[in-house]
Amino acid sequence: NPVIITDKDEMRKWSRKMRSQGKTIGLVPTMGYLHQGHLSLIREAHNHSQLIVVSIYVNPGQFSPSEDLSTYPSDFHGDILKLKSVPGGVDAVFCPKNLYDYNYNERQNTKNEKENCAAGHGAGVVSCVEEECSGHETWVRVERLEKGLCGKSRPVFFRGVATIVTKLFNIVEPDVAVFGKKDYQQWRIIQRMVRDLDFAIEIVGSEIMRDSDGLALSSRNVHLSPEEREKALSISRSLLEAKSAAEEGEVKCRELKDLAVTKITQAGGRIDYAEIVEQESLEAVEEIKSPVVFCIAAWFGKVRLIDNIEINI
Ligand code: PAJ
Repeated sequence: NPVIITDKDEMRKWSRKMRSQGKTIGLVPTMGYLHQGHLSLIREAHNHSQLIVVSIYVNPGQFSPSEDLSTYPSDFHGDILKLKSVPGGVDAVFCPKNLYDYNYNERQNTKNEKENCAAGHGAGVVSCVEEECSGHETWVRVERLEKGLCGKSRPVFFRGVATIVTKLFNIVEPDVAVFGKKDYQQWRIIQRMVRDLDFAIEIVGSEIMRDSDGLALSSRNVHLSPEEREKALSISRSLLEAKSAAEEGEVKCRELKDLAVTKITQAGGRIDYAEIVEQESLEAVEEIKSPVVFCIAAWFGKVRLIDNIEINI
């Protein structure tokens, strides 16, 4: 059974003790409401380190006031059961209450609070970044990589991600951290941040987990009606079609993007972006001459979904 830790000093103490015993630590950061996609990151982490820490924290710093912080789903007890089911298990679950509240009274850290620590992540949290993070003023920005793709429509998002991941790295002090390629830009931003700021942490990118029909697993999928879910399959299908077309010699990104946009729009989706970019720089390309990734974000009803596919030519 994993040890459940809510206090950041306790978390650091645990990690330092384990490291002093020669153990290596792998961190899998999450916002909870775990699904098979998250669990696949834990299986990947087992290939890189002896002990696994999973963090569960819905980070207010990466939501803008208009976004879905207050409706972000949570199920702490379900999460713990799922973590116990992973082969090899998980050694510690770090579920802090508020990592931006620097006056947090540690004496409140009762057993009861540990059990309820996820409750505040979902329902009760104020849906305003400014209010949640008002006592905090230091932000990490990966200036160029954070601008495009998801950064265009979500201007504070990657600032919040890079900052919370930095905080988690400083608290957990892992040897390795695993991120899903589902959030491709996020993975590349963290990789770049670790290089630029000399974190002594290896960043591993883990493959996208999909449902059997191809839909990329996401905590947000629960908000899709059955009809919307069916329509949303147009995203993964159009990505696969684009990859096949590219492999058969279609190198013009304009053509590949138009095909995908048409298919998704016809299914009733509203495109946020559809971009074919270089895999590390995330710079848009016009013709596929080297490895690229095709990234799409689209709305189905009130749900914004992202997906991507690497095309290695
Ligand atoms: P969250 O959306 O909970 O995702 C946690 C991790 O799971 C991320 O690395 C994400 O890429 C990965 N993941 C989600 N769905 C996946 C899928 N279908 N296949 C493979 N991996 C998948 O991403 C975040 O949380 C946050 O931004 C976080 C990094 C925790 C910082 O707050």
